[in-house]
Amino acid sequence: MDDTDIRDLPKMWRDLRARSEEIGFTMPSDICIGPFLKTLVTSKPKSNLLELGTGTGLALSWMIDGMDAASKLITIDNDPNYVAIAKNHFGSDKRVTMICTDAAEWIRSYQGEKFDLIFADAWPGKYSETDKALSLLKAGGFYVIDDMTPHPNWPDGHHKKVSQLIEYLEKREDLNLTKMNWSTGLIMCAKTL
Ligand SMILES: C[S@@+](CC[C@H](N)C(=O)[O-])C[C@H]1O[C@@H](n2cnc3c(N)ncnc32)[C@H](O)[C@@H]1O
Repeated sequence: MDDTDIRDLPKMWRDLRARSEEIGFTMPSDICIGPFLKTLVTSKPKSNLLELGTGTGLALSWMIDGMDAASKLITIDNDPNYVAIAKNHFGSDKRVTMICTDAAEWIRSYQGEKFDLIFADAWPGKYSETDKALSLLKAGGFYVIDDMTPHPNWPDGHHKKVSQLIEYLEKREDLNLTKMNWSTGLIMCAKTL
């Protein structure tokens, strides 16, 4: 099996990747996580979805492809240049709300409906505000994080942060999780309570 042989690319994906390269966006999600997110989103009809860290919208394009007409998605990033690219491609989709703000502040103040899936792809919601972000997950909801496999670009001390996060997630009694040494290293959690 070749897991990099991915054939159902979202319509906008190639253009988003080209725009990302043009502007020197250095943090794109690995392509493998795209179909994975799309598959999870497909399992949640009429869902309420959250992405923390929109970037230029690469993972978002996959999530949107998995959404049914009754689902909705909020995605947050604090960089207006990245959000502008995502808005340019998906701004007309009424199911999608794109917010340019600090995700930590947003997580702390959010009081709306809980989420069926959270893709936590920015520092807030992953390495900070983790508890609050997980409190926004519905029972049966998925919490997904990537970039958990050691990488030469990791700054000093990041390895410890990653280990602490894994330990924290594993100790929580309201989560069942799977660690996957695949793609950039994924952890998928499902909430039990
Ligand atoms: C790993 S990238 C996201 C990649 C994106 N999900 C994709 O599909 O390519 C992390 C993103 O988090 C954003 N970010 C970093 N700190 C943030 C913060 N405090 N609040 C909101 N977004 C933040 C960055 O601007 C960056 O776009």
